[in-house]
Amino acid sequence: MKVGIVGATGLVGRTMLSILEERGFSVDELYLFASGTVKGRRELVFKGENIPVEPIEEDNIPYLDIALFSAGSEVSRRLAPLFVKNGAIVIDNSSAFRMEKDIPLVVPEVNIDVIRKSDRLIANPNCSTIQLVLVLHYLRKLSPLVRVDVVTMQATSGAGRRGLSAMFIEGYSQSPFQKDIFENLIPQIGEFSLDGFCEEERKIIFESRKILGEPELKLLATTVRVPVRNAHSEVVTVEFENEVSIEEIRNILGDAPGISVTDNIPTPRDADGKDDVFVGRIRKAMFSDRIVLLWIVADNLRKGAALNAIQIAERLL
Ligand SMILES: NC(=O)c1ccc[n+]([C@@H]2O[C@H](COP(=O)([O-])OP(=O)(O)OC[C@H]3O[C@@H](n4cnc5c(N)ncnc54)[C@H](OP(=O)(O)O)[C@@H]3O)[C@@H](O)[C@H]2O)c1
Repeated sequence: MKVGIVGATGLVGRTMLSILEERGFSVDELYLFASGTVKGRRELVFKGENIPVEPIEEDNIPYLDIALFSAGSEVSRRLAPLFVKNGAIVIDNSSAFRMEKDIPLVVPEVNIDVIRKSDRLIANPNCSTIQLVLVLHYLRKLSPLVRVDVVTMQATSGAGRRGLSAMFIEGYSQSPFQKDIFENLIPQIGEFSLDGFCEEERKIIFESRKILGEPELKLLATTVRVPVRNAHSEVVTVEFENEVSIEEIRNILGDAPGISVTDNIPTPRDADGKDDVFVGRIRKAMFSDRIVLLWIVADNLRKGAALNAIQIAERLL
């Protein structure tokens, strides 16, 4: 199996590398790519071996079986189709292709069956979308969803290496954020549209509808960047069509693969480095037996990105 990672030196790329190793993914040859902007030879370690990191351009694309992309939308748009042309199946972490009608957008536990034999390019959803839809998918088995409200608290690692640095340095000149994140929080992720929603909110709304196959789902999102190093948290309010009990919710989520229900108030530090999506603080609205509140936390670099992509690859193989 020839496997490549485009964007191998980034936060997601490095996490992919360690997850491939942890899970014993079948790799005979590994190719690591990054930009050509960094001077000098770069190497990353895989199974105790130093693997060179090469710059990648249109004219040096190798034949691969699986190419994992995590180098931003521009790189994916430009290079992913060329990798496919050269024989690879591409799993893309960027937002470049997610909302294209014919491109599957996949969380394996939810909708692996949308992938057809002929698909060569598969999109990995946004990090805060993945942890949300995984839980909603199991909840809707209890009763149809009438409406969902989510408020996110998103870690700085969600914005890559520069995002992480911005958390520690006041007035960081390379910050990807609109305002200082040092000792602050910012209720905006990505640019605002005319409707007042920012890019991340729109991703959560439209990607969730596509993955769940519920194009009319009444879902609202408010996304907040917080000075947390890693793992995204979400406050989720779900209105069901019928009454559901807390016990039913605990049972269905407790049995679901990839979800961990806990009374131990899951925090980002608890979820950091873990594969599971953690759910806690499950409670009902005082005025309705159809409305339930949950607290959902997951590692955005693992289930929110690298792990989900590798689970897709595993299922394809
Ligand atoms: N961070 C998350 O939680 C998360 C979650 C879901 C999806 N994603 C998506 O995953 C992608 C990577 O995110 P990240 O957090 O890992 O970012 P990052 O830490 O900033 O890393 C970016 C990576 O892309 C590479 N790169 C940049 N320009 C390139 C080019 N022209 N050609 C080849 N490689 C290039 C960089 O290589 P150099 O070392 O050479 O600069 C680096 O390896 C983004 O599309 C992001 O939206 C991220």
